[in-house]
Amino acid sequence: MQPKAKFRKDYRAPDFTITEIYLDIQLDADRTFVTSVLNVERKTEGATHLKLDGHSFDFLSLKLNGQEHVEFERDEESLTVNVAEQADKFQLQIETALNPAQNTSLQGLYQSGDGICTQCEAEGFRQITYMLDRPDVLAKYRTKITASKEKYPFLLSNGNRIAQGKLADGRHWVEWEDPFFKPSYLFALVAGDFDLLQDKFVTKSGREVALEIYVDKGNLDRAGWAMESLKRAMKWDEDRFGLEYDLDIYMIVAVDFFNMGAMENKGLNVFNSKFVLAKPETATDEDYINIESVIAHEYFHNWTGNRITCRDWFQLSLKEGLTVFRDQEFTSDLWSRPAKRIEDVRLLRTVQFAEDASPMAHPIRPEKVIEMNNFYTVTVYEKGAEVIRMIHTLLGEEKFQKGMQLYVAENDGTAATCEDFVSAMERASGVDLAQFRRWYSQSGTPILTVTDEYDEARQVYRLHVSQHTPATADQVEKLSLHIPLKVALIDPTSGQNLPLRSEAAEMSDVLNVTESQQTFEFFGVKTQPVPALLCNFSAPVKLDFSYSKSQLISLLKFAKNDFVRWDAIQLLFNGELKENLTRLQQGGMMQFSHEFGSAIEMLLDNVEDPQLTALMVTMPKETDFAELFDTIDPVGIAKVREFLIESIAAYFEDRLYKLYNANKCGTYRVCEQDIAKRALRNVCLSYLAFTDLGEKLVKTHYDQANNMTDTLAALSAATKAELECRDELLADFEAQWYQDGLVMDKWFALQATRPDEDVLNVVQGLLNHRSFNFNNPNRVRAVVGAFASQNPKAFHNIDGSGYRFLVDMLIKLNDSNPQVASRLIEPLIKLSRYDGQRQTLMRRGLERLKGLDNLARDLFEKIDKSLQ
Ligand code: TRP
Ligand code: ZN
Repeated sequence: MQPKAKFRKDYRAPDFTITEIYLDIQLDADRTFVTSVLNVERKTEGATHLKLDGHSFDFLSLKLNGQEHVEFERDEESLTVNVAEQADKFQLQIETALNPAQNTSLQGLYQSGDGICTQCEAEGFRQITYMLDRPDVLAKYRTKITASKEKYPFLLSNGNRIAQGKLADGRHWVEWEDPFFKPSYLFALVAGDFDLLQDKFVTKSGREVALEIYVDKGNLDRAGWAMESLKRAMKWDEDRFGLEYDLDIYMIVAVDFFNMGAMENKGLNVFNSKFVLAKPETATDEDYINIESVIAHEYFHNWTGNRITCRDWFQLSLKEGLTVFRDQEFTSDLWSRPAKRIEDVRLLRTVQFAEDASPMAHPIRPEKVIEMNNFYTVTVYEKGAEVIRMIHTLLGEEKFQKGMQLYVAENDGTAATCEDFVSAMERASGVDLAQFRRWYSQSGTPILTVTDEYDEARQVYRLHVSQHTPATADQVEKLSLHIPLKVALIDPTSGQNLPLRSEAAEMSDVLNVTESQQTFEFFGVKTQPVPALLCNFSAPVKLDFSYSKSQLISLLKFAKNDFVRWDAIQLLFNGELKENLTRLQQGGMMQFSHEFGSAIEMLLDNVEDPQLTALMVTMPKETDFAELFDTIDPVGIAKVREFLIESIAAYFEDRLYKLYNANKCGTYRVCEQDIAKRALRNVCLSYLAFTDLGEKLVKTHYDQANNMTDTLAALSAATKAELECRDELLADFEAQWYQDGLVMDKWFALQATRPDEDVLNVVQGLLNHRSFNFNNPNRVRAVVGAFASQNPKAFHNIDGSGYRFLVDMLIKLNDSNPQVASRLIEPLIKLSRYDGQRQTLMRRGLERLKGLDNLARDLFEKIDKSLQ
């Protein structure tokens, strides 16, 4: 049976709703019994049949109002009950049995290590029992869990613990009640033996909230940062958004087996342990910041996601785009705002722009879905956040917050739509967002082409702006969008910003681009300026303006906006890469332009903000460069990139070494200043590894490291530069950490991205490594994912070996964990971006998968699209 698509336009409110659920769960890893009592209400007069979702369990019995009921039908994925004779309110009781230990999909109820937990978003609840498993059905939950007290001393669910007791047979039970109405995807249950970190938070209205973080036994010393992060998030949401927590308890559980980052279940978040556990010896600076931001993200969902949820899954960006925007702002307020912006834009440009150019292109509010899990994408999340950010730019903070208040006031306790959000923003601010709404329905990356013109006699400067969105796989016709274009005009002699004035008055620095072609005129412009365009990346578009190298250097020197400065050096990097790739392809000698050299020199000689300098002199990744081309040459890019690294290392060895020495930290502290110093020092090391100093410096760096950031920097430098000490260091690391999966993931990913010709053999060997486990998504991503997405040279080997390897892995994952399989297949479905020979090989791989007789919906959707 071919999977069927669902369309946004087909949304219909449900005929029945469920107002209350009582779950009685007799928990055991091998056989769990679930009794569910549903209070059902008819919403549509005359509705005769109630169709409930459910699959992947044993169905045991059904009762209606306490009586055995036989008028029902079942198929692969549903139970339809004839309720024609029933009053408008009735009760169903359903018994099911399931096997958490065998559930490798990590959706529904499953075993993780020695514990048991749930993952219900998007449609996992239906793997536990029959349910109206859709986000617009909001019910009150009461959950009683019974299990062995020895194996599962902690039994957790949403809301408040209302009763507990012991049974004579060694089992115990706990009953939970969640006072808030919620959709089934926010249900959670956790059972296991944990170490528990406890704290409390007093909200601004004076309520005390118990905070609890549950981690595997022995990991208590790694839970502190997560707790501090949670408290910072709770405080920030009160200060910046005026939003306060609403239950008396907030629990976080870290589990090792998890398909994604974390899950915002009401009052009981479940986290991938990667986003909870941290201590200096095991976590890098990046890990610390990521943990804080994911903890915050899930916490922020309590309002933007849980109190106000989504009417249907097409509206996913309503909660995800908005919550990503909120977590980005949180990180920006607490740490370096420009550094955060740069990281976010880099992700958007490499991954989201690539998604727009792929067979899976979709608007932030998709129109058509086969498998919902496939739409937890960078488009819905990060581009969704960019759309919210544009609203913020158009309205300003004050009106945006007024809009938030109206949105919350109007939609609290309901399942809402993206339109409800935009409408609240519009009415609260008085800003017309009519054309802006197209960002929700139109996919693709707009291209803004800008040319300029200076009329010296009249002192008028003009920017001619045209917009064009190329057709995408899902949508051919494109309309003009409302694009906020933030600009500054820089006098390249004085370095000052020129005032922006129209003929009559002062002008805003945000231009409203709404037409396909438009001209903006600036008056009283005394010298020909260099335009800083798309300041702060004010819209998720590609900018096409032919900057000369000397103009880019002016931006680098003078722009007030740090993002613009970073972007200027990116353009210079891109120029070097492109020019040399052409030389390489034409059999010429590669070389390094004078302007580029002087730009790097200037950056290394004037370090004001080490964090920014680090970001600016970091060599862009292969995947960053790939997005410059319609047809990607993975081997050429790798060669030129290595040439650029070696050239920078050779030319600037002295300066790099000086900065390396000047940025040493003492005792490890996670603070902005030290993070910045380590970042700069370690970037210097990454270049110096390619000089004669490399061998000694890297080895010493490794030996003297007192934290994982520095250890990993040394290990990475040794690996990328193929130093002699590499194998010794890798072996040393392995011996120290082999029992620790999370730490080993760093080692696995490094191995999988080795520059060596025979890296695929190494990768195949890793599958048998003592720390590897094919059922753990983090391990699989570290080995298979890193190889396929971060080692393009090897993955796209012209002999097809990389593709064959990935397909072999996907065939196994199709059975064990389709959700993970569907993420890992991404590099393979982007076949149209490669030359004919590679396309043929990639197609062959996709066809091999398509032929599987039990192909999961997740993979089917992507393969089907990419073979069209
Ligand atoms: N809603 C979760 C988040 O914050 C992500 C999520 C969606 C998820 N589906 C999931 C997590 C499945 C784990 C498994 O962003
Ligand atoms: Zn989220």
